[in-house]
Amino acid sequence: MSIYSLPLSVTARAGTNIALVKYWGKRDPTLNLPATGSLSLTLANLGSETRVRFAPDAEAAEGGDRITLDGAPAPPRFAERVRRFLDLVRQEARIGLPAEVATRNSVPTAAGLASSAAGFAALALAASRAAGMKLLPPELSALARQGSGSAARSIFGGFVEMAAGERSDGSDACAQALLPASAWNVRLVVAITAEGSKAIGSSEAMELTAKTSPYYSGWLQAVPQDLVAARAAVLAQDLAGLGRVAERNAVRMHACAMAADPPIVYWNGATLAAMETVWRLRTAGTETFFTIDAGPHVKVLCAASDATLVEPALASTPGVLRTLVLAPGPGAEVVREERR
Ligand code: PMV
Repeated sequence: MSIYSLPLSVTARAGTNIALVKYWGKRDPTLNLPATGSLSLTLANLGSETRVRFAPDAEAAEGGDRITLDGAPAPPRFAERVRRFLDLVRQEARIGLPAEVATRNSVPTAAGLASSAAGFAALALAASRAAGMKLLPPELSALARQGSGSAARSIFGGFVEMAAGERSDGSDACAQALLPASAWNVRLVVAITAEGSKAIGSSEAMELTAKTSPYYSGWLQAVPQDLVAARAAVLAQDLAGLGRVAERNAVRMHACAMAADPPIVYWNGATLAAMETVWRLRTAGTETFFTIDAGPHVKVLCAASDATLVEPALASTPGVLRTLVLAPGPGAEVVREERR
């Protein structure tokens, strides 16, 4: 057999991203179409690497795809999400073969930091290539979005903007690069304030917010102006401008979720203490601004040169367990392709 007829095994990696203007609400839950646009920063050294191969011998003993996470059989919920995503790829590529998927996350275990963004971005790239498709970046982004809304942004590096799109098939609900990682030397200092996974997943929480929060319509109305301001600040590399928008946008997202019935409260005491540390630093003259995702951790945006001051201030905040200092990073990329 010629080596060219062997199945293609593709390994891709992607970094996670943190939204500075949040995605919180869907216009179509089936296609995972966001109700509004969002804007994020893709990070270096914190992400996912995934190897995919479609072949008859890839079938698991119990049938279906063979899926591992960090070297062990993947937990059922994770495996189910991956399988559903692989079905989309098989449908588009018109192949009926089982797949072997091996994922490794460099997101620290129990850090409670989102790994689905990096995971589905890496999977979209590896699986589409392994299935013989060469998608353009916007197509890849729209594919990744169907795994996780935020994954659409991790296809690109640096500062990224995601469009809500208008089409019902979601083909225009994809991200695009705004400013490369190397262009602006900022840092995100993450204050980890709890161990374990979040109380309520983002999809379920978004749905509950949209259905029951009286502030949801206000949130939807406010995001477009936050996006305009954040985009302009990124392009002008205006840290204070971007930080102010990011902070108010995050607090509005949480206020909207807190007003759901039953209330969705992701914060703990240390979350508030870390917010106060940021405000104190700012009053003392350091340009620092926080954002908070669907969890209790606080992510602080600052200039790279200020990270040495911001990190110890957060690390010594009561209730903060540990900190991470993260730099902007590249978009999803193929790291290996082999016939086997
Ligand atoms: O991509 P999902 O479904 O995990 O949702 C992401 C939700 C937030 O992280 C809170 C906001 C965002 O834009 O990333």
